Amino acid sequence: MKQRLLLIAITFLMVACSSSLKKASISSPNEAITVNFNLTEKGEPTYQVLFKNKVVVDTSFLGFEFTDAEPLKDNFEIKAFGTVSKNDPWEMPWGEQLKVENEYNELIVFLVEKDTERSVNIVFRVHDDGIGFRYEFQQQDGWTEALIKEEKTQFNLTQDYKTFWIPGDWDIYEHLYNTTKLSEIDALQFANHKDLAQTSIPNNAVNTPVTLVGDDGLHLSFHEAGLVDYSGMTLGVDTDNLSFESILVGSDNTDYKVKRQIPFKTPWRTIQITDNAPDLIASNLIVNLNEPTKIHDMSWFTPMKYTGVWWEMHLGKSSWDYGMTRDDNGNWVDTGEAHGKHGASTENVKRFIDFSAKNNIGGVLVEGWNTGWEHWIGFEDREGVFDFVTPYPDYNLDEVTRYAKEKGIEIIMHHETSAATETYTKQQDTAYALMQKYGMHSVKSGYVGKILPKGEYHHGQYMVNHYNNAAIKAAKYQVAVNAHEPIKATGLRRTYPNIISREGLRGQEFNAWSSDGGNPPEHLPIIAFTRMLSGPIDYTPGIFNIKFDEYKPNNQVNTTIAQQLALYVVIYSPIQMAADLVEHYEANPEPLQFIKDVGVDWQQTKVLNGEVGDYVTIARQERKTGDWFVGGITDENSRNLDLTLDFLDENQKYEATIYKDGENAHWNDNPLDITIEKITVSKDSKLSVRLAEGGGFAISVIRLD
Ligand code: NOJ
Ligand code: CA
Repeated sequence: MKQRLLLIAITFLMVACSSSLKKASISSPNEAITVNFNLTEKGEPTYQVLFKNKVVVDTSFLGFEFTDAEPLKDNFEIKAFGTVSKNDPWEMPWGEQLKVENEYNELIVFLVEKDTERSVNIVFRVHDDGIGFRYEFQQQDGWTEALIKEEKTQFNLTQDYKTFWIPGDWDIYEHLYNTTKLSEIDALQFANHKDLAQTSIPNNAVNTPVTLVGDDGLHLSFHEAGLVDYSGMTLGVDTDNLSFESILVGSDNTDYKVKRQIPFKTPWRTIQITDNAPDLIASNLIVNLNEPTKIHDMSWFTPMKYTGVWWEMHLGKSSWDYGMTRDDNGNWVDTGEAHGKHGASTENVKRFIDFSAKNNIGGVLVEGWNTGWEHWIGFEDREGVFDFVTPYPDYNLDEVTRYAKEKGIEIIMHHETSAATETYTKQQDTAYALMQKYGMHSVKSGYVGKILPKGEYHHGQYMVNHYNNAAIKAAKYQVAVNAHEPIKATGLRRTYPNIISREGLRGQEFNAWSSDGGNPPEHLPIIAFTRMLSGPIDYTPGIFNIKFDEYKPNNQVNTTIAQQLALYVVIYSPIQMAADLVEHYEANPEPLQFIKDVGVDWQQTKVLNGEVGDYVTIARQERKTGDWFVGGITDENSRNLDLTLDFLDENQKYEATIYKDGENAHWNDNPLDITIEKITVSKDSKLSVRLAEGGGFAISVIRLD
């Protein structure tokens, strides 16, 4: 990708300070946001954030505790500070938009401890849509390694916000969002929840992104950017004082949470700050705070829709495993007792290839193709089980990839690691080389279960490095990664654009088997303003057989079919699954037309309306064609939304096909009621759409000649 670096204004100002200097300030380019840095009388570093002259983060302390050294917290003086203004726009190789604005002002504070001479810099970047700050440990005499026991970054808030949060679980983000006052957050109530098998919640803390809405319309979302060789940060909640403080994810194997050689820089601590909900989604703060790309040729990855041998396993129609046993040497052998439900057979995959080729869908995911699935979940000894190269006897990899190629389809690889990380690390070169040989350019990876080695957590430094190293290695084989049970997205896709998507939330799969009733109608209207702010989501939309009573009478999808279509636009990912079974699509050709038409790679994105947890409408323009697609979703409440199509080109007519909830639609009572109509529209058209309870709408807006 061609990088453009335009520095319209660089003023780097370095000021050596007299020991009396205790403060410095920096504002956003539009001057709406200001950060004030202050040293207290005791030499403690603090900061404060103002938005439109109102204090948003009041005086908050910054610092660290170490296992083998005195804390960094007070007795500092400012040695110098510097400011710089940058305008550094860039282009996404794939994404929600092509061109990204990236203008900010930066303040660097060079701090030194008075007695010990230990030094640390704190860097604040202030954009129009929020701030990021991080600590820089510079090379210094006598200190070569930091063993961080805890990072002590505070966010002292000024209102009892309405807060959209999930518990600060160290192992999984697959929780429903809670909506409570900040003062009422109680994450520990989920710590030993019977329905959450993998729950590891040691503190009253939340995971990020966490989004807060004030009575005055202020919207804040707290997260981090550029999480590299460090632990994920949860936010401990002080419900009395209305504040957050960083709690890093730890390990049972060490008394420190992060180990780094000095020099190093921490991830950015971020706050997106807007006065309305749609601007949170439009914000590019998280990607902007990451480094420019290190992968200059991404031409081998094409954003695509995909189908796959997947939902049928979650419904119980077929299985991942084939029915093999292990001999005394640990090798898998076919005893001939296969139970006949194995999903990933050559024949079944060919059905998906044929269906995809007919319906403008570029990829087919195949899960359960390799040996090991008889021993993947619920076992302690999971190392050495999967090898990622040996197919089951009924899956002919040569034939499947040949057939797929003939039909113009790419097979998507699947690597379920069952969280046995040492096996996966050892196998990666062989596994990615196999993919390269067959022309497969993307892999869905999975990390179900407790991490091996024991005592590590999905979100700790060990795993952050594992996920990042896997992606860096995959890039060498021109492989793009979509990790499930991942570490959260922190905008690293800017630096490594082969990190294409991930799970990291309660995905569609919960609707197939969760004993708590699945994802309620408010789930995705919350996700759009929380989890989605961090990066692309492999949610796997497009379930048409909403109730699937023939498979699972006690489970269902809790949306209308029109909302399932809307998700292709609302929930962003450069790979979007058409997740349902072939037969369910073939029975519903009319709504299928939208999935066939909808784009996956966007020139620009406009968030037309929305309120966190209630509803949202997004319009996206396809890069290739210039056509537009619009999606809107609502929670359990029905509502009317008025849309203005003023984003369309001047003097251009379009054919709009509107897929909306039928008059009697309702997510539970009548989810399949859908009305489809075609009209001609142009830039000054106005539309009014009614969304049913748990409903939505999707519109394709195609240019007419
Ligand atoms: C959990 C993933 O989220 C799901 O998509 C996948 O099918 C299973 N693990 C098996 O790998
Ligand atoms: Ca999962």
